[in-house]
Amino acid sequence: MDNVFIMDHPLIQHKISILRNKETGTNEFRKLIEEIAVLMGFEALRDLPLEDVEVETPIETCKTPMISGKKLAVVPVLRAGLGMVNGITTLVPSAKIGHIGLYRDPVTHEPHEYYCKLPDPIDQRLIVMVDPMLATGGSAIAAVNFIKEHGGKSIKCMFVIAAPEGLKRLHEVHPDVQIYVGHLDRELNERAYICPGLGDAGDRIFGTK
Ligand code: PRP
Ligand code: URA
Repeated sequence: MDNVFIMDHPLIQHKISILRNKETGTNEFRKLIEEIAVLMGFEALRDLPLEDVEVETPIETCKTPMISGKKLAVVPVLRAGLGMVNGITTLVPSAKIGHIGLYRDPVTHEPHEYYCKLPDPIDQRLIVMVDPMLATGGSAIAAVNFIKEHGGKSIKCMFVIAAPEGLKRLHEVHPDVQIYVGHLDRELNERAYICPGLGDAGDRIFGTK
């Protein structure tokens, strides 16, 4: 699939396996989510444009590449996406941060919006939307709809784990969006949880269950 990138780096796979373990506690879970966001961000940002700038070294003056052009906005989908923000700002400290608050209805699995705020203007920024889980795809589609309605044009989405159902749906609705997935899991269960997955990402990051 064009614009879909499934990670195969052993460090990412190893850390995801520790996340899956139900014995992994909140503190370690939170650290791992952030580390995975750094590693995935490193991959997802490999096409940032460069320009040569003049720098004086202790030896001589030279032209040397630095990141040019688009500024970045990191947009976590609340709550669980918050766990990935510091991973991206470790790589790009100057990034602005937006928030998209959505929760899934436990019965219908439809996303409900409760808070959204993006850097303004956003049209010239590269937007990196982050959420550990892509399950039915409903939340991600709603989040990208919101970003586009507010003028966002250049969008990358990062998910630690995705279900095939959600990945297909998100890609069909938003084929222009680049999607980065840490691991593609088997399927959704009858409660729309990812199998084997890691459970409820928000609860595991914030220790709420
Ligand atoms: C989780 C997850 C995604 C969403 C994925 O959030 O972080 O945002 O579910 O499911 P979907 O692809 O079927 O929409 P949740 O709604 O549980 O909210 P939380 O992060 O506040 O726990
Ligand atoms: N949200 C989660 O946090 N986990 C899932 O498996 C599905 C949706």
